[in-house]
Amino acid sequence: MQTIREILSARIRGAFAAAFPGADLAALPLDAAPAGDEAFGDYQCNGAMAAAKALRLPPHAIAEKAVAQLPAGGLLAKAEIAGPGFINLTLADDALARHLEALQADALLGVPQPGAGQTLILDYSSPNVAKPMHVAHIRSTVIGDALKHIHRALGYTVLGDNHLGDWGTQFGILILGYRNFLDPAALEASPVDELQRVYVLSHQKCEEDPAWKDQARAELVKLQAGDPENRALWQKFIDLSMIEFNRIYGRLGVAFELVRGESFYNDALPGVVEKLQSLGLVRESEGALVAFLEDEKLPPCIVRKSDGGYNYATTDVATVFSRENEFHPDGIIYVTDERQQLHFRQFFALAKKAGAQTPLRHIWFGLMRLPEGLLSTRKGTAIKLDLLLDEAEKRALELVRQASPDMPADQQQAVARAVGIGAVKYADLSQNPQSAVTFTWEKALAMDGNSAPYLQYAYARIASVIDKHRERFPGVDYRHEPIVLDSLHARRLALRLARYPDAVRDAAEQEKPSLLADALYDLSQAYSSFYQNVPFLKAEAGLRESRVRLCDLAAKILRHGLGLLGIDTPDRI
Ligand code: ARG
Repeated sequence: MQTIREILSARIRGAFAAAFPGADLAALPLDAAPAGDEAFGDYQCNGAMAAAKALRLPPHAIAEKAVAQLPAGGLLAKAEIAGPGFINLTLADDALARHLEALQADALLGVPQPGAGQTLILDYSSPNVAKPMHVAHIRSTVIGDALKHIHRALGYTVLGDNHLGDWGTQFGILILGYRNFLDPAALEASPVDELQRVYVLSHQKCEEDPAWKDQARAELVKLQAGDPENRALWQKFIDLSMIEFNRIYGRLGVAFELVRGESFYNDALPGVVEKLQSLGLVRESEGALVAFLEDEKLPPCIVRKSDGGYNYATTDVATVFSRENEFHPDGIIYVTDERQQLHFRQFFALAKKAGAQTPLRHIWFGLMRLPEGLLSTRKGTAIKLDLLLDEAEKRALELVRQASPDMPADQQQAVARAVGIGAVKYADLSQNPQSAVTFTWEKALAMDGNSAPYLQYAYARIASVIDKHRERFPGVDYRHEPIVLDSLHARRLALRLARYPDAVRDAAEQEKPSLLADALYDLSQAYSSFYQNVPFLKAEAGLRESRVRLCDLAAKILRHGLGLLGIDTPDRI
């Protein structure tokens, strides 16, 4: 089904076309957007201002001509001009109510399907083997996973691919360090931290001792040549790391369709470099092969080092071709922190020059600072993440115990898990990804602010209204009563509900899960004043069912939207 914005935008375009026959309007921004101030209407269109130059008329005159072609009817109750030429649109209560009923009956909750028939690959999380997953990987995991679900809701087929860093010079250093410095008890207790520790020691020794460095290189050459012992060690590093990563993914409720590390593309690297050579895209410089990207105004990038080793960018170019051949994607999206912007620009340019067809997009985010104290612990970084999640669940349990003292203890635990993990995720997802944010418990767990617990609590309260209706009026199906928007509160809620499908689309198109979070928060606030000001179960029959029906839709949308953000909605808190 069409969204409210699509319906209104089509009406506006039609009106402009009728008012200015023959004019080329295609490039003009004539779409409707939710009104900034409800005093002026429900939606607005600022296209008359943008059209002034093309149509050589003052914006007000343009707006007048367009509005003359915008008679009331359907969803539109009236269109009015304000200021220099804003067009303000007010929706018809009845048509809005019918639209909501259709939304409620639609299995997709009215979410449009622009992605139908298209496949996307989402490259996210992608931590490095034998190193603790750091907070940038967590952000990539949480944001990437939300983007995956949001795109799926819009009809895309999405493959999440965890592009592990499981290959490179570091493995020679690590193997040598493992053989010489390992503390088996520490490996047992916290494998990835111990691998990190022996790596750091060995790396230091490389800097100080050329003979050690040669030995590390020799171990790497053996590994690359398929030496069984070194291969087995390398596999062990991967397996130990995966156990730890998978524990974290399990806690976060994240799963991947593909887990292909950099090593998966090893065999393709020489061919990629040959291709780059044959296309004249690389030149030799001091023994290394270098791609010069002057046309793109980017610094050069090494594709094969003087020692014959390949680089991160080379692997990424090979990965693009491999994905193209195997999956024929319509787009590949990468989610990492801001520090990798140059790398992505470089290899995108190189891949394109080498003939890659797929649109490639890099979504980057700023770094998030974790609470003081948790980071200065002397335990390993990986454990720190567990600590953060443990602490979140512990604090959530306090909240749940206060809200529902009579709930059985194991249920309290389960709810606390959903609330605690949800709070950590939402604290991340509700921010503009590109701004640096500091995580605080006060904000993440605020019961009266833009937080997961607030939204989860709103959901649980709505669910309980519906339960109560079922108990008190058994056999009365509220879906048989039409929705009536008889109060300002009901109308405000209805507008927020009707906007949801557009918010899902905006979140995907602008690659910002925060837009979806904002819409859900706005919706719960509207619900909250509806709930506080309008009687439900005490209302007269009919009206009562209409109101419960609005509750039902609010619950469905909150659950759906939080689900897209990877956040559970327990029925009780
Ligand atoms: N392993 C990399 C890191 O930790 C991130 C990989 C991102 N994906 C990619 N295809 N380059 O920095």
